[in-house]
Amino acid sequence: MNELPRVVRTITALRQFVQASRAEGKTIGLVPTMGALHHGHLSLITEISKHVDLPIVSIFVNPTQFGEGEDFETYPREEQADLEKLAETDTVLVYAPDAREMYPPGDSTTVSVGGITGRLEGTARPGHFDGVATVVSKLLLQCQPDAAIFGEKDYQQLAVIRQFVRDLTVPVDILGGPIIRETDGLAASSRNAYLSEAGRKVAGQLNVILARLVAEVAAGSSVKHAEQTATDTLLAAGFHAVDYVAVVDPATLEPVTVVNRSARVLTVARIEGVRLLDNMAIEVPR
Ligand code: PAF
Repeated sequence: MNELPRVVRTITALRQFVQASRAEGKTIGLVPTMGALHHGHLSLITEISKHVDLPIVSIFVNPTQFGEGEDFETYPREEQADLEKLAETDTVLVYAPDAREMYPPGDSTTVSVGGITGRLEGTARPGHFDGVATVVSKLLLQCQPDAAIFGEKDYQQLAVIRQFVRDLTVPVDILGGPIIRETDGLAASSRNAYLSEAGRKVAGQLNVILARLVAEVAAGSSVKHAEQTATDTLLAAGFHAVDYVAVVDPATLEPVTVVNRSARVLTVARIEGVRLLDNMAIEVPR
């Protein structure tokens, strides 16, 4: 096994590393994570390494993006295993602050993004995007990377981050990493580990049903009809609930009723108390 990457836990140590690297003419990339790393995360490191000299990975389970009754307490924390996985990548530094470093006593600023957060995950998880936008703002200011990368599995999160980076003119390139899928097509996620064998089998249907919707809409089916069919099929396949199946504009995430060119379908379906997110592009041939 390769040597484990160096871990720093303070903003001061992070900045010292970044400043020294910049003095040597190196560019910096940040891969923000909450740990419990899987091959989706590792692909983000591979991707950002094509754009910058030095990828830094942050690991921080951010309390402010979890709602009441969500899995903050039980979210998997496996730092040693994460470091062993990172040892096999180009990661040069791991930034793993504790909650006090990120939210010191007296901290009272929240970054709240309007518009795009008013639907889908924003409605299903009130306050979630405030927590994400706040912690990602802090991470970007603490590290000051040239680029940062986020997975497209959390498609709305990526859109929210792009929005506040543009609005606040944060000097960083935001990159999106394609969804990494398991052999049955299930989008890689740290929360997949919560599923039983039976639940995991049902979960594998999500991408299949979504791909069917994409084909139907691209072939000219009514969007409303395709959304309803996908919802019914998910429930019939064994999902306990479907939070939404929504065909939206890929940039604004506004609902779309007629797809003329490109669109995106976003979904969240629940099984065994786990919310599974997925999304796919819809391209209509001209
Ligand atoms: O996608 C995640 O893992 C988290 O939402 C992020 C971007 C690391 C912020 O806590």
